[in-house]
Amino acid sequence: MLASHHSVSTLLIRTELTDVGIATANIPVITIDGPSGSGKGTIARRVASALDWHLLDSGALYRLVGLAAARQGKMNAGEAEIAAIAEHLDVRFSSDESGEEQVWLGGAEVSRELRTEDCGRLASQVAALPAVRDALLALQKGFRRAPGLVADGRDMGTTVFPDAALKIFLTASAAERAKRRHKQLNDKGIDVSLAALSRDIEDRDRRDSERSVAPLRPAEDARLLDSSNLTIDEVTRTALDWAQGLEQDLD
Ligand code: DC
Repeated sequence: MLASHHSVSTLLIRTELTDVGIATANIPVITIDGPSGSGKGTIARRVASALDWHLLDSGALYRLVGLAAARQGKMNAGEAEIAAIAEHLDVRFSSDESGEEQVWLGGAEVSRELRTEDCGRLASQVAALPAVRDALLALQKGFRRAPGLVADGRDMGTTVFPDAALKIFLTASAAERAKRRHKQLNDKGIDVSLAALSRDIEDRDRRDSERSVAPLRPAEDARLLDSSNLTIDEVTRTALDWAQGLEQDLD
């Protein structure tokens, strides 16, 4: 079992009681930031589910803005127009009967399209625009709802939720991330060379951590977790152990 029922339910009851009529600042947030391929999406989903907290996949929002801008033929329309799309994003998250997550853009289901490499490229272009990042700020903060939120991305701990109770910076070596991505693509029947993937990942890391707008870096008070030699279960257990320490601190 990933977390003791006792500690989780205690945390839920306590936050529900203290939440009544009190600002969202009292709703606990766990941030999980890190480079792509570190496994943060998977870990965030597992931690949120074990705690029964809400989940924010902030990368999906950047992907949605990229997708919406491309569909409207506005990728080259300039920063202000793309920021306006971000500001008025008509998005809804739900899950189907088997619990699979669904993302809706303007009433159409786009979950699969959102995960494509093309959409990732569009996302990284719009994510470099400061006005787009600003426009998404309020939307992201709105995910902070009782009993708690697990937020994953690049700047969750540094910019969006600087007051988060627990900040995790999840890393993995470039070689390990390339290996994971290679396996993922192979499983889908896509044949790419491991060396090319490694180069891609190293280039992207450099761009992400050197860009002037919201560069990828751990918050000063983040706990670093290297997943290179750990299984998904081991990483999840560590994150949940830290979350339990958090609960004791709050008591
Ligand atoms: O995590 P992902 O691959 O879904 O992210 C898509 C793009 O969005 C990626 O280029 C990084 C960017 N992003 C960001 O700049 N800030 C975030 N909080 C989340 C994602």
